[in-house]
Amino acid sequence: MPDDPTPSAGAQPENGQRLLDVPNWLYLLREFDSLYRYGSAGGSPAIRGHRKRVRDRLSAVMARNPELSQRASETKPVTAHLPRALDLGERAAMQGMARALREVKDELTWEYGYEKISRALSQKYAYCEILGPQGPVHCDNLILGFVLFAPNTTYPQHSHNEIEESYISVSGAWSENNSAVFAPGSLILNRSGDEHRITTGDRDPCLLAYAWTGPEARLAKPDMKLSSTRKTKLAP
Ligand SMILES: [Fe+2]
Repeated sequence: MPDDPTPSAGAQPENGQRLLDVPNWLYLLREFDSLYRYGSAGGSPAIRGHRKRVRDRLSAVMARNPELSQRASETKPVTAHLPRALDLGERAAMQGMARALREVKDELTWEYGYEKISRALSQKYAYCEILGPQGPVHCDNLILGFVLFAPNTTYPQHSHNEIEESYISVSGAWSENNSAVFAPGSLILNRSGDEHRITTGDRDPCLLAYAWTGPEARLAKPDMKLSSTRKTKLAP
């Protein structure tokens, strides 16, 4: 009997495999596509424009059917909270995304992004990229990924030069600049230079999907820095 050329749903990407050959990664990107295509901009022209940029760039990647690059999977201390985050996510508004992420959870490369990070933050935060200049799905003008926070985390104030960032809650509760509590399904936009500081609820972890758009040179080298001084006055 000839070998079946169709990969099983749980197959990890192998060298030379293209996106359409690896269903788990394809379906995860389809979840992002649905979010940015069918969700609401809440009447905000800025968010509407950002959502369109994200989905147009993602559509171009999917049409190109790129090779998936191999990245060594890596965990960080906070990834011990990922099972709980996925469990909560699968019970809430973003269940499709949480389930799709669960299928690739052992293949993710969790990282910090900062050259210097406090010990406290290194225990409570990490992110992984799904699509971007580093792969695993290659794209020069868009980054998609997830950021995970432990319960009761403060992610210090920072901003992104030339990068427009959206976060969509997958599970848990969090606040940005003390201004609201966001639940699964909520989207928030941080434009270039917008100072933001995140806090998470004290009972459960918080998992956010994110998208970054910006010039290719900047996405290749985001130069992540925490703000040393508060440039904007935050609400108490
Ligand atoms: Fe940010």
